[in-house]
Amino acid sequence: MTESTRAADANGEEGMTSTDPVYAERPFMGRAPSESIPARSMDPDAAYRLVRDELTLDGKPKLNCASFVTTWMDPWADALMETSRNRNLADESEYPATTEIAERCRRMVANLWNPPAGADPIATYAIGSSEAGMLGGIAMLRRWQKAHRDWKSDKPRASVPQPNLVMGRDVQVCWDKFAEYFDIEPKFIPMREGQYTITPEAVKDRVDENTIGVICTLGTTFTGEYEDVEGINRALVDVKRERGLDVPIHVDGASGGFVAPFDRPELLWDFRLEQVRSINASGHKFGLVYPGLGWVAWRDKSFLPDDLKFSLNYLGGDETTFNLNFSRPSAQVVAQYYEFLRLGHVGYSELVAAMKTAARRLQRGLLDLARERDRQPYFQALSDVDAYLPVVAIRLNPSIEPGFDVFHISHKLRQHGWIVPAYSLPRDLDGKDGNPEVDVLRMVVREGFSVDMVDKLLADYRTVLGELEDGDVPQDAHPAPVPGGVHAKFSQC
Ligand SMILES: Cc1ncc(COP(=O)(O)O)c(C=O)c1O
Repeated sequence: MTESTRAADANGEEGMTSTDPVYAERPFMGRAPSESIPARSMDPDAAYRLVRDELTLDGKPKLNCASFVTTWMDPWADALMETSRNRNLADESEYPATTEIAERCRRMVANLWNPPAGADPIATYAIGSSEAGMLGGIAMLRRWQKAHRDWKSDKPRASVPQPNLVMGRDVQVCWDKFAEYFDIEPKFIPMREGQYTITPEAVKDRVDENTIGVICTLGTTFTGEYEDVEGINRALVDVKRERGLDVPIHVDGASGGFVAPFDRPELLWDFRLEQVRSINASGHKFGLVYPGLGWVAWRDKSFLPDDLKFSLNYLGGDETTFNLNFSRPSAQVVAQYYEFLRLGHVGYSELVAAMKTAARRLQRGLLDLARERDRQPYFQALSDVDAYLPVVAIRLNPSIEPGFDVFHISHKLRQHGWIVPAYSLPRDLDGKDGNPEVDVLRMVVREGFSVDMVDKLLADYRTVLGELEDGDVPQDAHPAPVPGGVHAKFSQC
């Protein structure tokens, strides 16, 4: 027996060998190391089993209706990712073939969003939509800074211009973070009951000479709706004509960026619109790649200021980069290229259609669920699957008082394996808006969510609602209060 084949327990004591009965080894007799790296090595079999067993306690990705993020890829994609997983995408000169694939993806993504003839679009990859969106935000901030040279001065802050960003309360948390981390005033447009996206009028009222841009979400995290980018563009064109302010739009198409082009190609939301200067999307959502991959594109290179780019003479070559992280996995980019080739426009369109068929059936089925005693429907829909993402968002019918809420339903569905998040929709968080709290259940229908699974989920809803009606209401179903000083926002993606 060599030293390396000896097992050691959580406390570093010498244990049994890899030939001992598998589940009786010392590592399994104590608690798994969790605070500091153990002093001694562990048999790889034992370490593997210990970690793998812990992971079995996770929810099942397939039943995770909370997430927009890809949970299934085909075996060919898996094989390519396996080939690429030890290659750092940052090492461009070492991996020229991978770099070339990344370049092709960058061009394909930039061209997907309809840049006008004569424009010179540019795109780059990111770890997800948060990084991608922030890159778009940073470019807008830098353009504003160049136009307002006095923003950086020794004068008191109140006497020099400060940048602001106009967006709805419906933005994903990455935009709250962007404003906080980059010290930009967020000009939030409040949400009202029944109005969960921003309107052109609300945008027009808020933009001023210090607005670095407007964020429009194509597929909100909360209801899956698309914001009226065309209307907001029109309002900003008016602002340009009337007030001489050229306010850019950044579209957060984290989900919709890979749905709308295949589902509603006629919908105007992208670079066909004059004020849309940059767009982000998640390769790892409806781009159909495992996490983490995001994309951001500018309609023309001129909207990405040169002084944000870094030319690196490093690792044996010259590289120009504009991103926050340096090293990043290449497997996701390779898999993205595979998906583009494998599916093509037709394949993406068919997949979106299939997801929508399942989502429509789910929404219809949920709206048909009615109480036995008065035949009142349990739910109302906030989502519109035909027009927007394959996302189903429902609230309890306000005219019934069933003695339980969406948090109880979510909790009990979890006991059947389903992860269906319940949350309160964002509203004017100063608490003075007088709007009632609207609590919803939201389900994302991703690739691989079959009609059969929809029917199983509906059957489990029926069971859960029956149990709740019979008084089996769990006590601990509501989220814990957020600690003071910490920003609170639902952020399931
Ligand atoms: C609209 C929107 N923007 C941004 C994000 C953040 O994306 P990522 O998780 O890729 O960083 C999400 C995630 O769901 C989203 O829905």
